[in-house]
Parts: sequence; C-alpha cells; structure tokens
Amino acid sequence: MEPLITDEKPRYARLHGDDENIPENPEALALVQKWKRSFYILLASSLSVIFILFGVGIYSILSLQDCSPSKPGVVIPYSPAPVKYVNKWLTGDPDTKKFMGKPRPELDQAWHDLLDSTLIRYSADELFLANNATSVQHKDGGFVGGLGISHSLHCLKRLKQYIHPEYYYNHETQDWDELYSHADHCLESLRQEILCNADVNIYTLKWTPHSRFKPTVKVPQPHACVDWEALHDWMKGRQARLEDMVGPPESLFEGKDSKEKASAKSAQEG
Ligand SMILES: *[C@@H]1O[C@H](CO)[C@@H](O)[C@H](O)[C@H]1NC(C)=O
Repeated sequence: MEPLITDEKPRYARLHGDDENIPENPEALALVQKWKRSFYILLASSLSVIFILFGVGIYSILSLQDCSPSKPGVVIPYSPAPVKYVNKWLTGDPDTKKFMGKPRPELDQAWHDLLDSTLIRYSADELFLANNATSVQHKDGGFVGGLGISHSLHCLKRLKQYIHPEYYYNHETQDWDELYSHADHCLESLRQEILCNADVNIYTLKWTPHSRFKPTVKVPQPHACVDWEALHDWMKGRQARLEDMVGPPESLFEGKDSKEKASAKSAQEG
C-alpha cells in the first residue's frame, strides 16, 4: 500500500507483511516458526501428491488410446471401422440355410452379398493412423483397401467353391495347381486368424444316442459378436470398385505376357 502524499504525518502504522503478527516472545517465535515449517512441508507434500496423481491420470488417458481395457499391454492397431457388439447364439443364425449345402443360385447369391463392399475407400489420414500404411490410390483421391474380415470371408468362399469343383471350375482351362495353392493359403490364413481371435467362450458336452464313446458338443454359450450388419452397412457406404483404382505402372509388366496380366487381375478380384 502506498502512503498518501500529504503534509500530515501518516496515520497508519508501518506494515509488517506476513510478519505482522509475530510476537516478541522468543518461545512463541520458535513455536510460530515450527508451525510455518510444518505448513511448508505439508504444502510441498500435497503439491507432490497432486502432481503424481495428475501424471498418472495423463498417462492412463494416453495409454487408453492404445490399449483397450480387455487387451492390456498390447497396441490395438487403428481402424476407422465402427465396432459395436451384440450377443448371439452362434448356431442360431437364420441365414445359415442359405450358406450351406449344394451349390445353387440362392447360395451363390448369399455368398456374393456377404462379400459386397470388400473393397472400400480410405483417406490418407486414416492410413497414416494405421501405422502409416500405403495402398493403391483411388482415382477420386484417397486410397482403396479392405478389412481383415473381407479377406477371411473371401477365403471361406474359395474353400466352399473348392469342395464343389465340378460346379465352380472349368475343367478344360483350370490351373489346378494354382487353385490348390490358393485353397491351401486360405486354410492357413483362417487357421492363424482363429488362433489370433481365440474364442474362449465355454463349450459344453452332452451324451446322445450317436455314440457310447464320444459325447456331442452342445450349443455354445452366448457370444459377444461384432454387429456384422452395422459393420457391413459402414463398408457399403465406402464401397470402391476395381475400376476406381489407379492402375499399376506399366513397368511392372515389362517382359511379361498378357496371360499373366489376366491372372494377376483375377487374383485381385478374388
Ligand atoms: C510415412 O510413410 C512415408 C512413405 O511411405 C514416409 O516418407 C514417411 O516418412 C512416413 N512417416 C512417418 C511419420 O513414419
């Protein structure tokens, strides 16, 4: 506080700041200093605790971005795909009949619809978040790619076709070695994916008249499944076609004949 500039003698006593109330008595002075020390120690400890809690909070928020609570300690790769879960009894799919049995137009249509929008568009930002990936470019900007599930479904469809070669393949022109290695690749790919996403839901057994030695696997417990309908709708909204892709550079095909070009194209179409 500035003293008033007047001719009068100031009417205020000198200010002592925070020492204002210090008693003159040395014992009381020591006591006050002891309290002050305790106060500063308490203040320092409180601030430390606050900083530590703040740090732990920030760390948790940052690590939550990488790890879901159910997969602690691993990095969950980025994907823009919306994942919602629904409970399902896996044997209760009303569409099962369409996908099973002998080849027929209804079955082919069901598998065709399942693989609708296998190719989808990605923005450059999305691929950057996905471990800075690169992909084939889309003619209208951005990139074209897919989701892991589309590769698995493609493989299942290939295997379904492979067990009905008389219906799906032209026996005159078919490259059987290529067909075999593609089916084998698909089996191996599905094996790895099944292990990767190990289903740990409990299965139970029951005795049936079918056998005295081996019980039957009972209907599994309810599963928490990705909502495929919702995911597929999202994929359909981003659908890309082969014709939308910026093609390969001609230099890739120097010295190769057109048959190889054609088989490279059919491999992409899957
Ligand atoms: C992302 O990839 C591109 C090319 O593939 C590379 O030039 C760039 O340095 C990468 N950026 C980061 C942050 O890794």
